[in-house]
Amino acid sequence: MSVPAGQSAATPKRLVVLISGRGSNLGALIEASEQDRIPAQVVGVISNRPDAAGLGFAEQHHIPHRVLNHRDYPSREAFDADLATAIEDYAPDLVILAGFMRILTPGFVDRFTGRMLNIHPSLLPKYRGLDTHARALADGEPEHGASVHFVTPELDGGPVIMQARVPVDPNDTPDTLAARVQRAEHRLYPEAVRRVCSGEIQWSGRILQADGSPLEAPLQLDEDTHDVSGPDARSRPPHPVG
Ligand code: GRF
Repeated sequence: MSVPAGQSAATPKRLVVLISGRGSNLGALIEASEQDRIPAQVVGVISNRPDAAGLGFAEQHHIPHRVLNHRDYPSREAFDADLATAIEDYAPDLVILAGFMRILTPGFVDRFTGRMLNIHPSLLPKYRGLDTHARALADGEPEHGASVHFVTPELDGGPVIMQARVPVDPNDTPDTLAARVQRAEHRLYPEAVRRVCSGEIQWSGRILQADGSPLEAPLQLDEDTHDVSGPDARSRPPHPVG
Protein backbone atom coordinates (compact mmCIF):
# COMPACT_ATOMS: atom_id res chain seq x y z
CA MET A 1 0.00 0.00 0.00
CA SER A 2 1.26 3.46 -0.83
CA VAL A 3 0.91 6.23 1.75
CA PRO A 4 -1.10 9.20 0.48
CA ALA A 5 -0.27 12.71 1.68
CA GLY A 6 -1.86 13.45 5.03
CA GLN A 7 -1.97 9.83 6.20
CA SER A 8 0.47 8.20 8.54
CA ALA A 9 2.54 5.25 7.44
CA ALA A 10 1.27 3.19 10.38
CA THR A 11 1.15 -0.54 9.80
CA PRO A 12 -2.20 -1.42 8.22
CA LYS A 13 -4.62 -3.15 10.56
CA ARG A 14 -5.22 -6.80 9.78
CA LEU A 15 -8.78 -7.73 8.86
CA VAL A 16 -10.21 -11.23 8.73
CA VAL A 17 -13.56 -11.29 6.92
CA LEU A 18 -16.16 -14.01 7.53
CA ILE A 19 -18.68 -14.67 4.76
CA SER A 20 -21.39 -17.15 3.79
CA GLY A 21 -22.53 -15.94 0.38
CA ARG A 22 -22.11 -13.29 -2.26
CA GLY A 23 -19.44 -11.31 -0.46
CA SER A 24 -20.16 -7.92 -1.99
CA ASN A 25 -19.26 -6.22 1.29
CA LEU A 26 -16.00 -8.17 1.32
CA GLY A 27 -15.42 -6.84 -2.21
CA ALA A 28 -16.08 -3.29 -1.06
CA LEU A 29 -13.58 -3.66 1.81
CA ILE A 30 -10.91 -5.13 -0.47
CA GLU A 31 -11.42 -2.26 -2.90
CA ALA A 32 -11.25 0.33 -0.10
CA SER A 33 -8.01 -1.23 1.16
CA GLU A 34 -6.43 -1.39 -2.27
CA GLN A 35 -7.36 2.25 -2.88
CA ASP A 36 -5.89 3.26 0.50
CA ARG A 37 -9.25 4.51 1.75
CA ILE A 38 -8.91 2.45 4.94
CA PRO A 39 -5.73 1.90 6.98
CA ALA A 40 -6.28 -1.84 6.80
CA GLN A 41 -5.67 -4.93 4.76
CA VAL A 42 -7.80 -8.04 4.35
CA VAL A 43 -5.37 -10.78 5.39
CA GLY A 44 -7.79 -13.68 5.44
CA VAL A 45 -11.27 -14.74 4.37
CA ILE A 46 -13.20 -17.59 5.96
CA SER A 47 -16.46 -19.01 4.64
CA ASN A 48 -18.69 -21.56 6.35
CA ARG A 49 -20.07 -22.50 2.93
CA PRO A 50 -17.88 -24.10 0.26
CA ASP A 51 -20.03 -22.58 -2.50
CA ALA A 52 -19.89 -18.98 -1.25
CA ALA A 53 -19.46 -16.78 -4.32
CA GLY A 54 -17.48 -14.29 -2.25
CA LEU A 55 -14.54 -16.70 -2.12
CA GLY A 56 -13.95 -15.58 -5.71
CA PHE A 57 -12.99 -12.10 -4.47
CA ALA A 58 -10.32 -13.63 -2.23
CA GLU A 59 -8.97 -15.69 -5.12
CA GLN A 60 -8.93 -12.77 -7.55
CA HIS A 61 -7.07 -10.59 -5.07
CA HIS A 62 -4.69 -13.33 -3.88
CA ILE A 63 -5.95 -13.16 -0.32
CA PRO A 64 -5.50 -16.30 1.81
CA HIS A 65 -8.88 -17.96 2.33
CA ARG A 66 -10.38 -21.13 3.67
CA VAL A 67 -13.66 -22.94 4.09
CA LEU A 68 -14.79 -24.24 7.44
CA ASN A 69 -17.99 -26.11 6.71
CA HIS A 70 -20.29 -26.03 9.72
CA ARG A 71 -21.94 -29.22 8.46
CA ASP A 72 -18.74 -31.09 9.30
CA TYR A 73 -19.14 -30.35 13.02
CA PRO A 74 -21.25 -32.13 15.63
CA SER A 75 -22.13 -28.97 17.54
CA ARG A 76 -22.15 -25.20 17.36
CA GLU A 77 -19.49 -25.13 20.10
CA ALA A 78 -17.16 -27.44 18.15
CA PHE A 79 -17.52 -25.35 15.00
CA ASP A 80 -16.94 -22.08 16.85
CA ALA A 81 -13.84 -23.49 18.56
CA ASP A 82 -12.24 -24.33 15.21
CA LEU A 83 -13.45 -21.07 13.72
CA ALA A 84 -11.74 -19.12 16.51
CA THR A 85 -8.49 -20.98 15.89
CA ALA A 86 -8.72 -20.39 12.13
CA ILE A 87 -9.28 -16.69 12.74
CA GLU A 88 -6.38 -16.40 15.20
CA ASP A 89 -4.10 -18.09 12.65
CA TYR A 90 -4.38 -14.88 10.61
CA ALA A 91 -3.51 -12.75 13.69
CA PRO A 92 -6.21 -10.17 12.98
CA ASP A 93 -6.75 -6.82 14.60
CA LEU A 94 -10.42 -6.92 13.60
CA VAL A 95 -12.87 -9.67 12.70
CA ILE A 96 -15.41 -8.52 10.13
CA LEU A 97 -18.72 -10.34 9.72
CA ALA A 98 -19.98 -9.69 6.21
CA GLY A 99 -23.07 -11.74 5.52
CA PHE A 100 -21.84 -14.52 7.82
CA MET A 101 -25.05 -16.47 8.41
CA ARG A 102 -24.28 -18.15 11.71
CA ILE A 103 -25.54 -17.68 15.25
CA LEU A 104 -22.36 -17.41 17.31
CA THR A 105 -21.86 -18.96 20.74
CA PRO A 106 -21.31 -16.57 23.68
CA GLY A 107 -17.83 -18.01 24.30
CA PHE A 108 -16.79 -17.23 20.74
CA VAL A 109 -18.22 -13.72 20.89
CA ASP A 110 -16.52 -13.02 24.24
CA ARG A 111 -13.16 -13.99 22.78
CA PHE A 112 -13.43 -11.23 20.18
CA THR A 113 -15.18 -8.55 22.22
CA GLY A 114 -14.30 -5.08 20.97
CA ARG A 115 -12.67 -6.38 17.80
CA MET A 116 -15.56 -7.95 15.91
CA LEU A 117 -17.95 -5.96 13.71
CA ASN A 118 -21.12 -6.87 11.83
CA ILE A 119 -23.22 -5.13 9.20
CA HIS A 120 -26.97 -5.53 9.39
CA PRO A 121 -29.49 -4.42 6.75
CA SER A 122 -31.73 -2.22 8.91
CA LEU A 123 -31.62 0.90 11.02
CA LEU A 124 -31.02 -0.90 14.31
CA PRO A 125 -32.61 -1.32 16.78
CA LYS A 126 -35.39 -1.71 14.22
CA TYR A 127 -35.70 -5.05 12.44
CA ARG A 128 -33.18 -7.35 14.01
CA GLY A 129 -33.02 -10.79 12.39
CA LEU A 130 -34.09 -11.78 8.88
CA ASP A 131 -36.32 -10.37 6.10
CA THR A 132 -35.64 -6.80 7.13
CA HIS A 133 -36.57 -5.25 3.77
CA ALA A 134 -39.97 -6.95 3.53
CA ARG A 135 -40.73 -6.05 7.14
CA ALA A 136 -39.79 -2.39 6.63
CA LEU A 137 -42.04 -2.25 3.52
CA ALA A 138 -44.93 -3.94 5.33
CA ASP A 139 -44.69 -1.31 8.07
CA GLY A 140 -44.75 1.53 5.55
CA GLU A 141 -41.40 2.89 6.70
CA PRO A 142 -40.39 6.08 4.87
CA GLU A 143 -36.71 5.22 5.23
CA HIS A 144 -34.59 2.16 5.77
CA GLY A 145 -30.89 1.45 5.79
CA ALA A 146 -27.99 -0.45 7.29
CA SER A 147 -26.06 -0.42 10.56
CA VAL A 148 -22.53 -1.41 11.55
CA HIS A 149 -22.20 -2.56 15.14
CA PHE A 150 -19.81 -4.29 17.50
CA VAL A 151 -20.86 -7.89 18.03
CA THR A 152 -22.27 -9.07 21.36
CA PRO A 153 -23.93 -12.39 22.21
CA GLU A 154 -27.32 -10.77 21.59
CA LEU A 155 -28.28 -11.19 17.91
CA ASP A 156 -27.91 -7.83 16.09
CA GLY A 157 -27.89 -6.23 19.53
CA GLY A 158 -24.37 -4.80 19.97
CA PRO A 159 -23.56 -1.09 20.13
CA VAL A 160 -24.14 0.60 16.78
CA ILE A 161 -21.24 2.66 15.41
CA MET A 162 -22.60 4.02 12.19
CA GLN A 163 -25.65 3.89 9.94
CA ALA A 164 -26.54 4.66 6.33
CA ARG A 165 -30.10 5.73 5.63
CA VAL A 166 -31.89 5.34 2.30
CA PRO A 167 -35.35 6.51 1.26
CA VAL A 168 -38.10 3.96 0.64
CA ASP A 169 -39.76 4.40 -2.75
CA PRO A 170 -43.52 3.77 -2.87
CA ASN A 171 -42.95 1.32 -5.71
CA ASP A 172 -40.21 -0.61 -3.93
CA THR A 173 -40.22 -4.39 -3.67
CA PRO A 174 -38.03 -6.14 -1.11
CA ASP A 175 -35.51 -6.69 -3.92
CA THR A 176 -35.29 -3.08 -5.11
CA LEU A 177 -35.04 -1.87 -1.52
CA ALA A 178 -32.37 -4.49 -0.74
CA ALA A 179 -30.34 -3.33 -3.75
CA ARG A 180 -30.47 0.29 -2.58
CA VAL A 181 -29.46 -0.68 0.94
CA GLN A 182 -26.58 -2.78 -0.37
CA ARG A 183 -25.19 0.10 -2.40
CA ALA A 184 -25.20 2.15 0.80
CA GLU A 185 -23.57 -0.73 2.69
CA HIS A 186 -20.64 -0.71 0.29
CA ARG A 187 -19.85 2.83 1.40
CA LEU A 188 -20.87 2.39 5.01
CA TYR A 189 -18.80 -0.64 5.96
CA PRO A 190 -15.42 0.70 4.78
CA GLU A 191 -16.12 4.03 6.48
CA ALA A 192 -17.04 2.39 9.79
CA VAL A 193 -14.01 0.07 9.56
CA ARG A 194 -11.81 3.07 8.83
CA ARG A 195 -12.96 4.78 12.01
CA VAL A 196 -12.36 1.71 14.14
CA CYS A 197 -8.97 1.00 12.58
CA SER A 198 -7.83 4.58 13.10
CA GLY A 199 -8.77 4.32 16.80
CA GLU A 200 -11.43 7.01 16.48
CA ILE A 201 -14.12 4.55 17.58
CA GLN A 202 -13.45 2.22 20.49
CA TRP A 203 -15.47 -0.23 22.52
CA SER A 204 -14.03 -2.67 25.01
CA GLY A 205 -17.34 -4.03 26.29
CA ARG A 206 -18.54 -1.06 28.30
CA ILE A 207 -18.83 2.44 26.85
CA LEU A 208 -18.77 3.07 23.10
CA GLN A 209 -16.42 5.97 22.51
CA ALA A 210 -15.75 8.30 19.60
CA ASP A 211 -12.60 10.39 19.91
CA GLY A 212 -12.50 9.65 23.64
CA SER A 213 -16.08 10.76 24.40
CA PRO A 214 -19.16 8.55 24.77
CA LEU A 215 -20.95 8.09 21.47
CA GLU A 216 -24.56 8.86 22.35
CA ALA A 217 -26.07 8.00 18.95
CA PRO A 218 -24.77 6.17 15.89
CA LEU A 219 -22.76 8.22 13.41
CA GLN A 220 -24.56 8.74 10.11
CA LEU A 221 -22.94 8.31 6.72
CA ASP A 222 -23.07 11.61 4.86
CA GLU A 223 -26.40 12.17 3.15
CA ASP A 224 -24.72 13.10 -0.11
CA THR A 225 -23.05 9.72 -0.45
CA HIS A 226 -26.42 7.95 -0.71
CA ASP A 227 -28.01 6.69 -3.87
CA VAL A 228 -31.07 8.64 -4.90
CA SER A 229 -34.34 6.80 -5.18
CA GLY A 230 -35.97 6.61 -8.60
CA PRO A 231 -35.88 4.77 -11.92
CA ASP A 232 -32.36 5.93 -12.77
CA ALA A 233 -30.98 4.66 -9.49
CA ARG A 234 -32.70 1.31 -9.85
CA SER A 235 -31.38 0.72 -13.38
CA ARG A 236 -27.84 1.69 -12.46
CA PRO A 237 -25.37 -1.22 -12.54
CA PRO A 238 -24.25 -2.61 -9.18
CA HIS A 239 -21.42 -0.91 -7.33
CA PRO A 240 -18.14 -2.07 -8.92
CA VAL A 241 -16.60 -4.11 -6.16
CA GLY A 242 -14.34 -6.52 -7.92
C1 GRF B 1 -25.72 -7.71 3.68
O1 GRF B 1 -26.92 -7.15 3.27
C2 GRF B 1 -25.52 -7.55 5.14
O2 GRF B 1 -26.18 -6.44 5.66
C3 GRF B 1 -26.11 -8.80 5.72
O3 GRF B 1 -25.86 -9.80 4.77
C4 GRF B 1 -25.71 -9.22 3.49
C5 GRF B 1 -24.40 -9.71 2.95
O4 GRF B 1 -24.24 -9.38 1.59
N1 GRF B 1 -25.56 -9.09 7.01
P1 GRF B 1 -22.85 -9.70 0.87
O5 GRF B 1 -22.60 -11.19 1.04
O6 GRF B 1 -21.80 -8.87 1.49
O7 GRF B 1 -23.09 -9.36 -0.58
